[in-house]
Amino acid sequence: MKTSNIYIHIPFCRQRCTYCNFKSVKFNIAMAADYVTAIIKEIRARKNEINGSMAKTVYIGGGTPSILSGGQLTRIVNEIKKYASIDENTEFTVEVNPESVTPEKMYVYKAMGVNRISIGMQSSNNNVLKLSNRPHTNEQFLNAIKAIKSVKLKNLSIDCLIGLQGSSKEEAIKSVKQALKQKPKHISVYALNCDENCLMYSLVKNNKIKIMEDDEVAKVLEIINSLLKRKGFIHYEISNFAKKGFESQHNINYWYGEEYIGFGCGAVTYRNNTRSECISEVDEYCKGKVKYKEEDVNDKIKLEEKIMLGLRTIYGVDLTLIDDNKKDYIQTLVKHKFAIIKNNKLILTEKGFNLSNQIISVLM
Ligand SMILES: C[S@@+](CC[C@H](N)C(=O)[O-])C[C@H]1O[C@@H](n2cnc3c(N)ncnc32)[C@H](O)[C@@H]1O
Ligand code: SF4
Repeated sequence: MKTSNIYIHIPFCRQRCTYCNFKSVKFNIAMAADYVTAIIKEIRARKNEINGSMAKTVYIGGGTPSILSGGQLTRIVNEIKKYASIDENTEFTVEVNPESVTPEKMYVYKAMGVNRISIGMQSSNNNVLKLSNRPHTNEQFLNAIKAIKSVKLKNLSIDCLIGLQGSSKEEAIKSVKQALKQKPKHISVYALNCDENCLMYSLVKNNKIKIMEDDEVAKVLEIINSLLKRKGFIHYEISNFAKKGFESQHNINYWYGEEYIGFGCGAVTYRNNTRSECISEVDEYCKGKVKYKEEDVNDKIKLEEKIMLGLRTIYGVDLTLIDDNKKDYIQTLVKHKFAIIKNNKLILTEKGFNLSNQIISVLM
């Protein structure tokens, strides 16, 4: 039986966080209902892409998937299940936000086959959350954790964001310690990326607000990385930590260049050496004006992606893929402990992860 990796995008959020650079719009009941109908239509129209497959991973991401009712999410998943099989071996994740988690929804998710919840905590400090326009407090996060735990899912992942407005070294470490207390199997720790797509970009650029300096973020991450290692987490990708056996299969698919099928506006599909991205305008999508932008993924692009993605992980990159004229540079990396060579693979060390962008740009 062929396998599939399925992504479903839910683009709604209660409000826009100041730092967010993802595809999302403000939640609206009528639009969300239309969206559910439209995505079911899209899945039906493209059923051949998943028909007869066993889903290895299903990932419902956003935006805020938990903003939909349990019934709406069930309808979408039931449409998928008409064509692809989902069983207990499928890594089935739903991304949730604290303010929209309820025990009832978690019960519905479990019944649907969900075995992994990824929750965005970001910070445990209410002032930091407020300054970022997060739609929840830390108390809501802790209540959401109780609701998630009440249904005993196999895997819990918590997202933390380092460098936010109002944050400090102490605050960031305290946040990660709070995440650890919830006994997750997986933790993502992201360094804040403030680019043109986020609301805070011009405020930061014009010195109207302050976020943590890059070198301070790097120092904080170093402390957090060793804290998580001491607690038994494997630092398997620059921003991702997991207990053994709980590495995100969904992420690993991307890094290994495996095929995946995306449904919903803005969702990306990678199949038959083609990457196609659905339009990101939610209103157009709801009207059924679904269009895709296609890009051929030729051997050169594949090779570059393999090097770039491989070096972000502890699985490394096959040395045979790297150009011979980079040999001296690789030797320097190894000599100064930025990388190791194991089983003919070049693997960045913790020290190397900190400089990964520079190293990757040289090796590509
Ligand atoms: C797809 S987002 C959305 C998840 C969910 N809506 C939330 O906000 O909790 C997944 C994760 O990306 C991270 N993220 C969002 N914006 C970011 C940014 N500008 N820089 C770095 N990480 C970011 C956050 O940690 C977030 O939990
Ligand atoms: S960070 Fe999450 S909740 Fe905030 S706007 Fe972006 S997707 Fe929505």
